[in-house]
Amino acid sequence: MTVTNKIIENTIKPHGGELINRQVDQSEKETYIAEAKSLPSITLNPWSLSDLELIAIGGFSPLTGFMNKADYTSVVENVHLSNGLVWSIPITLPVTEDEANQLEIGSRVALYGEDAHLYGVLDLEEKYTYDKEKEAELVYGTTDVDHPGVKKVYEKGNVYLAGPIHLLDRPKHDEFVDYHLDPAETRQLFADLEWKTVVGFQTRNPVHRAHEYIQKAALESVDGLLLNPLVGETKSDDIPASVRMESYEVILKNYYPENRTRLVIYPAAMRYAGPREAILHATVRKNYGCTHFIVGRDHAGVGDYYGTYEAQELISKYEDELGIQILKFEHAFYCKACENMATAKTCPHDATSHLHLSGTKVREKLRNGEPLPKEFSRPEVAAVLIKGLQEK
Ligand code: ADX
Repeated sequence: MTVTNKIIENTIKPHGGELINRQVDQSEKETYIAEAKSLPSITLNPWSLSDLELIAIGGFSPLTGFMNKADYTSVVENVHLSNGLVWSIPITLPVTEDEANQLEIGSRVALYGEDAHLYGVLDLEEKYTYDKEKEAELVYGTTDVDHPGVKKVYEKGNVYLAGPIHLLDRPKHDEFVDYHLDPAETRQLFADLEWKTVVGFQTRNPVHRAHEYIQKAALESVDGLLLNPLVGETKSDDIPASVRMESYEVILKNYYPENRTRLVIYPAAMRYAGPREAILHATVRKNYGCTHFIVGRDHAGVGDYYGTYEAQELISKYEDELGIQILKFEHAFYCKACENMATAKTCPHDATSHLHLSGTKVREKLRNGEPLPKEFSRPEVAAVLIKGLQEK
């Protein structure tokens, strides 16, 4: 690829109008590090660390830090920040009451990872308690602790810390270094590639045939596809990101046009919040410079908590405000009579001809040592998954 460093033009504006960058300049870093040594500190779990990173690199623009109570309440209750901008999932920093008691409003807090590395600093502006049941019910649509996102809500500390952050060091994504681009970089990449319209695709699964079908259907009407798999924390029975990344490489190499597709990691934690998370996913992809975003069946869902098209219905309400175009796809399946991928919209045959595909089914088959039929997964992908999971 030739990089021409074209001026970015005609690209979609970040959410709120400005791409946030909270990464401390190299020249100031030493001062921050020296100061951090005498600051009170907390340790972030992988979820909070990925939130810190996404705020800092502008993925969560216009957020400049962890949400204060006004924004938190407004997001939970009204799906908007307190300034009126649509936002669907609270981005918060939980700590225990004991930890919170050690910290003074107006002071700075050093943010360490579980690896004892100093990643950032928080300007502590507020600490507040919150109603876990209410958060679970309104954001996740359930208070059932078997829901993996709700379980996290109940497990986390009772106090949220709020305030702007400064990122000193990036969490390392060594395994994915070739695919590690920030929103500013993907925006530049799209300009260099002369892609005026780009469809973003969120996934936490290996790409199966239904994914491929909807991605390529979308690609028929835009300039490029950003395959943007989530590689942060997922539930334990999801396929590990390192195995998935290999599967994305082989499918792109063998079945996608090189000049129209790019693979970039999305370093976030998975919430499994279905409809609310679909809105967050679209918002973040807008910040990465995508003009379009795919929402298919049961987007970001888990178990039977959400209806097949609930995410599409909710995001439709906010689509105009979001400003990124949502491409909604029906449940896609392989039809033996059509000998093709199809949906209820495009296939005249009855269910006996249909082979339904989902990440859950792929994982089930892999767990049981069953082969993945080619109507399900490309053979190259199946080979990577079988090998990858055997090694794990
Ligand atoms: S998600 O949790 O990241 O949404 P997944 O990786 O399975 O899970 O889905 C990625 C995207 O593909 C989502 O927009 C989802 O709705 C869509 N999708 C997954 N399977 C299908 C299918 N069989 N038909 C239509 N859309 C699908």
